Amino acid sequence: MNIMVVGGGAREHAICDAIVRSKNVNLFSVMNNLNPGIKQMSEDFLQEKETNVEQVVNFAKEKNIEIVIVGPEAPLEAGLVNLLNENGIKACSPTKEAARIETDKEWMRNLLKKYNIPGQLRCETFTDSAKAKKYIEKQDCEVAIKPIGLTGGKGVKIYGDHFKNIDEAMEYVTEVIDNKIGGQSKVLVEEKAIGEEFTLQAFSDGNTILPLHAVQDHKRLLPGDSGPNTGGMGSYSCGNGLLPFLSKSEYEEGAGILQKIIEALNKEGCKYIGPIYGQFMITVDGPKIIEINARFGDPEAMNVLPLLETDFVEICTGMLDGTLSSKKIKIKNKSTVCKYVVPEGYGVKSMVGEKIVVDEDAIKNTGSELFYASVNKQNDFVHTTSSRSLAVVGIADDLANAENICEKALNYVKGDHIFIRHDIGTPELIEKRVTHMNKLRGM
Ligand code: AMP
Ligand code: GLY
Repeated sequence: MNIMVVGGGAREHAICDAIVRSKNVNLFSVMNNLNPGIKQMSEDFLQEKETNVEQVVNFAKEKNIEIVIVGPEAPLEAGLVNLLNENGIKACSPTKEAARIETDKEWMRNLLKKYNIPGQLRCETFTDSAKAKKYIEKQDCEVAIKPIGLTGGKGVKIYGDHFKNIDEAMEYVTEVIDNKIGGQSKVLVEEKAIGEEFTLQAFSDGNTILPLHAVQDHKRLLPGDSGPNTGGMGSYSCGNGLLPFLSKSEYEEGAGILQKIIEALNKEGCKYIGPIYGQFMITVDGPKIIEINARFGDPEAMNVLPLLETDFVEICTGMLDGTLSSKKIKIKNKSTVCKYVVPEGYGVKSMVGEKIVVDEDAIKNTGSELFYASVNKQNDFVHTTSSRSLAVVGIADDLANAENICEKALNYVKGDHIFIRHDIGTPELIEKRVTHMNKLRGM
């Protein structure tokens, strides 16, 4: 079977890795940068901007592709899946209409309201900054300010983290409205949720979801959760599928919310096929929905895909045939710690074109996985671009060992201008999260 993956990041490298573990598949890929890991696994590839949907579809037709998996959100918004379907090619990713669950935050919040889905936050959208001001003042500034559309995970500003008073809040509100950040002269103001975050990813066939292990991502650039928001600096997961501060019932509430969203999308006439991603804040009132993504998370895909024992391509056909309810998904009960290597200056001004030396064999020998991201390879060396460079994932029976293995592997990644958040997955940071949650719960 010919399968094609769209996207050139570490998430897509992890998807490709899951595909080639299956038998009798030929992998093809489309990517903007030359990801050396994906290139090596692919029978053939097209180097092209992933949002140039006509070129991507032409390549798929030329290569007789049967199933396409789209990694990033931008090609979904550009209608790649719609055009593939029009050309008789199936995709384990949502159409442009179903992907609005991620690409239009106002639409997503309205859908939650319409179908009375649990885990909602108080929120409103504004095109008029004076009205936004009144609303924010009424909430004592305890809000999150968000553009409506896609901003690569970097458009959200939160009270206490990014602004401290109404004047600073209004500066951002005005910036979003005036500069149409996220594509519209409109801003979403949400209640600020307080607690600990977790990600829940699941496969969906449009009717049924099969959830994977919960993961915690680290959005902030610097150790101790400071600095600007990034696409994600690393993440961890535990062998039992939960997190040290997440109970089974909270996990199940999260999964229940994703199931209800799939059903609501169905009723709206946009059946959702593909991986779906829920980001939740566990608060004292239970899990609240922070965002829903129409794809795997990056880095969270790297925590869950290496643990799949069930054949990934079989899951893909289950998503397409609508037979997920008859499948049982097998996941290794291992813990994982993923840390990203990024160029120095990432999040502010990345150092581009810097050399990184990677000893792939030594990394494998530690028991870790290596996933390349936005790098280019020339003459045996990889070079940084402005985005994240590569991810290393330690896999072990428990979290402490997974973190240890990940750090061992990172010794085999060398560069004069790279940066890593070494605190991700360490016992100290995890203890801090547990203490935070216990304090909120009055324990
Ligand atoms: P997003 O781009 O929507 O993932 O938001 C980036 C980060 O901002 C999230 O990972 C959260 O940590 C934080 N965030 C977003 N919305 C809220 C909210 N309503 N309350 C508290 N934190 C939020
Ligand atoms: N890790 C956050 C995201 O993939 O959006």
